[in-house]
Amino acid sequence: MPEEIYLSFRDIRKIFPGVVALDGVNLDVYRGEIHALLGENGAGKSTLMNILYGLYHQDGGEIFLKGEKYEHNTPKNAILHGIGMIHQHFMLIPNFTVLENIILGQTSPNPPKMEKEYFRKEIFKVADKFGIKIDLDLLVEEVSVGMQQKIEILKALYKGAELLILDEPTSVLTPQESQELFKMLDDLNKKGTTIIFISHKLNEVMQISDRISVLRDGELIATVSKSETDHHELSKLMVGREVEEEYQKEEAKYGEDVLILEKISLIDHHNHDRRLLKEISLKVCEGEIVGIAGVDENGQKELAEIISGLRKPSSGKISMFGRDVTHATTHQLIEMGMSYIPADRRNEGLVLEFSVAENTILETNYQKPFTKGISLQKSVITKFAQDLVREYDVRTPSVNVPVRNLSGGNQQKVIIGREFSKKTRFLLVVQPTWGLDVGAIEYVHHKLLEAREKGISVLLISTDLEEVRKLSDRILVIYEGEIVGQADTRTSVSEIGLMMAGSKKQTVSL
Ligand SMILES: Nc1ncnc2c1ncn2[C@@H]1O[C@H](COP(=O)(O)OP(=O)(O)OP(=O)(O)O)[C@@H](O)[C@H]1O
Ligand SMILES: [Mg+2]
Repeated sequence: MPEEIYLSFRDIRKIFPGVVALDGVNLDVYRGEIHALLGENGAGKSTLMNILYGLYHQDGGEIFLKGEKYEHNTPKNAILHGIGMIHQHFMLIPNFTVLENIILGQTSPNPPKMEKEYFRKEIFKVADKFGIKIDLDLLVEEVSVGMQQKIEILKALYKGAELLILDEPTSVLTPQESQELFKMLDDLNKKGTTIIFISHKLNEVMQISDRISVLRDGELIATVSKSETDHHELSKLMVGREVEEEYQKEEAKYGEDVLILEKISLIDHHNHDRRLLKEISLKVCEGEIVGIAGVDENGQKELAEIISGLRKPSSGKISMFGRDVTHATTHQLIEMGMSYIPADRRNEGLVLEFSVAENTILETNYQKPFTKGISLQKSVITKFAQDLVREYDVRTPSVNVPVRNLSGGNQQKVIIGREFSKKTRFLLVVQPTWGLDVGAIEYVHHKLLEAREKGISVLLISTDLEEVRKLSDRILVIYEGEIVGQADTRTSVSEIGLMMAGSKKQTVSL
């Protein structure tokens, strides 16, 4: 049966100041398929989808929907035409219920008092048709990230979406939640929904898509069927070369203890004295990478905040370089040689309104050579930023544009470059490769191994178990704020998985 073309992009061009984001893209999406969009950071994936959804307007080219020219692309019109988009940053209102969020801005034929009941029935019909189970009366702030995503999807379906666009939907999910999402997408797809799915993870793309398109530097390089391709070909199409599966690591040369945590606990007095961290003891020495594996929201964020001096523990002791730093400030720790790569890069790692150059010297701006006397050395800073941009392959038209304009992955590269170029002795990294493309991930991993070989001690906190296994000399597993197990690279994935799920506990001592 010949495929029916549902959506076509013809010669789409988009230019931002100094960047050709899309350079004549032609792409067809068939009715009823799952079409994956792959490409390096800054390749133009989000831009293409934002144009379809009407968040941007193209500078050239045309879009055809079901054979007809689709003009006046605005979000409102997109919804009317059955296009739904799930953004990476959810747009739900936390203190509203699920029901209230879904019906926001809709009017019913009933008087206001009956409105909620009317909508409740209507939403149930849609949820039932697609087999989605969600409690409509929960507050959004009470539900997990995975559930929020389901709400966004139900909301789009309720508005009549026949085409769902998901921009990196799994980067915020745990492996289990990702599998649930795929099951849901598969069900929707069987019932006729066409899906466009952006991802950097080749495993995911190979698992759920029918066809895959690869963008590189704003051009469509190829569209291939899943059944006719494999990981190697895809990574080659994306980055122009093959990507290493395993790293060659030298034996760790353990030196002095750098970081020691003794019985660190954290109690949340605002929330029924809940224990967020329970007597965590661990140490990291020179020249080793210690990985903390765990499913998201098991205390990783709090642990990172405490080690980096942003938050104080309720009890316990922290030493760094032989000094008691339990009460030290972040600034003091940075002066002692700590670098910190936080998970939440948009809020903690960058000042979005500042230029790329300003962001490369965020915590060191008062130091030489960036400041002389009291004046900032503009030319020195520009040169420093330009070198960093070159070395870390940050795709930006210049170092003077606001960092907000960069693609997600390129923002992350700015932080990584800044932190790696400090005179670091201890590196605290949380989710360092979130949102990065395969080439950039490999680069960051090599940088971490290089740091280790130079004798720097690294504490890596990541929910990506593959990443933790590839890099760490020792692995600790965190579950509900407690270290519940210890493993090394020889421990099997399934055994670590059991610890991550809390069903296998060991006693771990220093
Ligand atoms: N609002 C904007 N202003 C200026 N430049 C922009 C803007 N949005 C995107 N760009 C630029 O357009 C190019 C394509 O960006 P886009 O966000 O589409 O990439 P992407 O493929 O989604 O990358 P990532 O995988 O990192 O999310 C990048 O060079 C980016 O810096
Ligand atoms: Mg993007």
